[in-house]
Amino acid sequence: MKGLLREMHSWMADYMKSFYTEEDDVQNAIRLKELHTGYVTAHCRELAACLGLDEHQRQLAEMVGLFHDVGRFRQYTIYKTFNDSRSEDHAELALKVLDELPFMKKLPPEDEAVVRFAIGSHNKKAIPPTKDRQMLLMAKIIRDADKLDIYRVLRPYLTGDTSEGAPNFIEVQSRQEVSPDFLEIFVAGKQADYHQIRTHGDRKLVRLLWIYDINFSWTLRRIVEAGYVDDIIASLEPKNERMQMGIDRLQGYIKRKCAEEDCIEI
Ligand SMILES: [Fe+2]
Repeated sequence: MKGLLREMHSWMADYMKSFYTEEDDVQNAIRLKELHTGYVTAHCRELAACLGLDEHQRQLAEMVGLFHDVGRFRQYTIYKTFNDSRSEDHAELALKVLDELPFMKKLPPEDEAVVRFAIGSHNKKAIPPTKDRQMLLMAKIIRDADKLDIYRVLRPYLTGDTSEGAPNFIEVQSRQEVSPDFLEIFVAGKQADYHQIRTHGDRKLVRLLWIYDINFSWTLRRIVEAGYVDDIIASLEPKNERMQMGIDRLQGYIKRKCAEEDCIEI
């Protein structure tokens, strides 16, 4: 499988470069996803190693990281947006691109099914129910690796009070305050519905609530150590009692989860 993985890396590098253009906006978007792909692939590999997975599983995790956003390049070229609701689901698009690649057929069918399941579910609100442990494990790995890097990409935007630093394809709401219904979701420690976002504060909170959806303590420690959580919290408005309750709940959760050891039943 090592040779096949090398072939995949080389195809992906050429594929991403094939979208390079003289148009600055498009080029920035393509470069951003190229960089994201590199970081997420590395995170997947590292996380799989930290979880004590065998070489075959590490390679599958690396493959999932490499291809998880392969649909983004076609999405941006066709629709000029990374917004799935205005174009199409980029994970489904990734699966269509993978369908066209002859070397995917070199994978044993059970491995191909695992890779496709993990990629297809990486951007969904929750992992679709499955009894297959490999599928579930790879889906958890890619969701964590992806979020870890998205915090890096969005940091200037999530911690600032203006659109400064926001990648140009992100639509910016000007109001800072978290909406009252979002604040109550934060107090309850639940996930918010993206479609209900009304303010810039809501958008920050949605990303902060991802913390409750992180699967492994390895990932959570990396997110916390990078300062992403503290920086987002410091920029949240309004600073009132309800907000503090949400923050306390989140910080308590982080403390407990970071103290856990990741264990895998395979
Ligand atoms: Fe994605």
